[in-house]
Amino acid sequence: MAKVTVVGSGFVGMTTAQRIVEDNLADVCLIDIVEGKPQGIALDLMQSGPVRGYSSRIVGTNDPKATYGSDLVIVTAGLPRKPGMDRSDLLGVNGKIVQAVADYVKVGSPNATVLVVTNPLDTMVYLMRAMLGFPAERVIGMAGVLDSARFRAFIAMELGVSFECVHAMVLGGHGDSMVPVPKYATVSGISIEELMTQEQIQRLSDRTRNGGAEIVNLLKTGSAYYAPAASVVEMAHSVLRDQKRLLPCAAYLTGQYGLNDIYMGVPCVLGSKGVERIIELKLNEADRASLQKSADAIRKDLDVLRKQGLLK
Ligand code: NAI
Ligand code: 2OP
Repeated sequence: MAKVTVVGSGFVGMTTAQRIVEDNLADVCLIDIVEGKPQGIALDLMQSGPVRGYSSRIVGTNDPKATYGSDLVIVTAGLPRKPGMDRSDLLGVNGKIVQAVADYVKVGSPNATVLVVTNPLDTMVYLMRAMLGFPAERVIGMAGVLDSARFRAFIAMELGVSFECVHAMVLGGHGDSMVPVPKYATVSGISIEELMTQEQIQRLSDRTRNGGAEIVNLLKTGSAYYAPAASVVEMAHSVLRDQKRLLPCAAYLTGQYGLNDIYMGVPCVLGSKGVERIIELKLNEADRASLQKSADAIRKDLDVLRKQGLLK
């Protein structure tokens, strides 16, 4: 069975680990810096196995060496937002955590694919790739699947249809400047532009952009974790089972969409080699301009990391 390391046993990490073992997708190594926390969660999940009927095993640890030889590393370590905070407010503290994790992934799991979840996502995945020096297709950020899932849920709720018939693509950075693309949002193949008014589409797009903050404001002491974990596990399935699902992921761009040397959310084919293909959609002028604005916001965060000495 494949080995997946989940770094960080907080809300996103432990929910991710739970879903991976429940899906019998892989054996899991759950690592955290807090003593006892990953061990306790792992033991609890092992004891769920006989009841839930899964055979995947999970260990909890504080020792980086236990992660060695992973096929996939999912990085959820880092602070979440508090109400009133922007994702970019997490740059310095989470940047240092990403560096510490990269140090042992590079040595111990040199062939792994790495999925980064830690915020601010597009900047942290760039930093992770720079620290690891792995081929860019094996270092990928999770955000677009989550943002698209939010858009899909809001569309299904608005139209009173099943979640399953709604598909959507939210591109760009995982921030206020993300780009929901209505043309590629469909209900059983029918564009939402035929099913909704412009006012409805605008309202649901705005709610999607604000989707993370809406939950932070409700929870008050943390951020969303069920939909984020579901999203990263969908990506994990595609990589470990070589499913070649077409999903919006933060991928390293080398000219696609007119952008270079940046990680940002674009449609990707995900398989055992990681990002196997980036799909370039025909976007209208407004969407292209929005993507450019999103890229500008990410570059601003990268500059902050450079000023802080975290990135060369
Ligand atoms: P949390 O606070 O519940 O858990 C974070 C865990 O990381 C804690 O258990 C902490 O001890 C651990 N940790 C800190 N430093 C570590 C290190 N060096 N090695 C291993 N573990 C370490 O936070 P939560 O809700 O699980 O969120 C985690 C991160 O994921 C946050 O940065 C959050 O903003 C981000 N996030 C990103 C999403 C996305 O779409 N990309 C969606 C949801 C959350
Ligand atoms: C979210 O969108 C916090 O980035 C996280 O829920």
